[in-house]
Amino acid sequence: MNRTVLFVDDEPNVLNAVKRLFQDEDISVVTAESGEAALELIKTREIGVIVSDNMMPHMNGIEFLERSKSTAPESVRILMTGYADMQAAIEAINRGEVYRFLTKPWRDRDLVDTVSAAVDRYNVVTALKTADEATLLSLAQTIELKDPYTRGHCDRVAHYALSTAERLGLTGEDKKHIRQGSWLHDCGKIGVPEAILNFNGPLSAEQMDVMKNHSRWGAEVARLAKLPDPVVSIILNHHEKYDGSGYPQGLKGGDIPYLARIVAVADFYDALASDRPYRKAMAREKAFEILIGSRSTCVDPDILDVFVECVRGM
Ligand SMILES: [Fe+2]
Ligand SMILES: [Fe+2]
Repeated sequence: MNRTVLFVDDEPNVLNAVKRLFQDEDISVVTAESGEAALELIKTREIGVIVSDNMMPHMNGIEFLERSKSTAPESVRILMTGYADMQAAIEAINRGEVYRFLTKPWRDRDLVDTVSAAVDRYNVVTALKTADEATLLSLAQTIELKDPYTRGHCDRVAHYALSTAERLGLTGEDKKHIRQGSWLHDCGKIGVPEAILNFNGPLSAEQMDVMKNHSRWGAEVARLAKLPDPVVSIILNHHEKYDGSGYPQGLKGGDIPYLARIVAVADFYDALASDRPYRKAMAREKAFEILIGSRSTCVDPDILDVFVECVRGM
């Protein structure tokens, strides 16, 4: 695990404030007062997250972050920016140079949350690169720790989805992809603030939008880690619905990749059958009733039949 964050700012006051802010966090802070100094520093040590001010003499933050990519390709980059150059920050994000931006002056809580999420993301990507199954599973469990209501969720989803896949006649590689995709389907939740994950009530539309990003973020992380395409696809598409009302793309019916359709049924069922922050688990039969009621709207009807056959008997 690498929990080192490099802050780059030409104002020593800012760097001191940041050091104070992080002294009680499980994160070690290193600093540099210019882009040039920072580029030297990243040659000599591995940095998980780089946070840079934008308005600096000689080399601005966007240029520095772009240049840091060749030395530290895996580091997660965050840009600090005043309102004045917000547009430039958004463009940098769209070009994929920067993971997030933060506006100055920052709110302490936002800075700590964003940096912690970036540190997690860095470690997830590096861990996924080794991609042995034990690492994948322990990673899935780490994410569940953040969201106590889903403890065991990924494992159960894998279990249900695998039995269904077997009954559907899938073999070898497909089954392996289903297992890994199920374990990691919610790994994008590392990007969702804990306050939203554990919110005690239905989410507002805005909070829901943040939550909905988890499938894209997760797929992006898996892609960066070079996991097999079918695994990335399961993560990306596990919230698509059969009638096209799901996310992120609103795919419909057979356009939703097959393996993702299988995992989606298992995920939906387990979400009904386990405790959520805002409601208790329903009885199994009630969960099956709702699941069957969503035939053809939420889930693939053929997969649903096989799923019910397998899982009801468990
Ligand atoms: Fe999910
Ligand atoms: Fe899930």
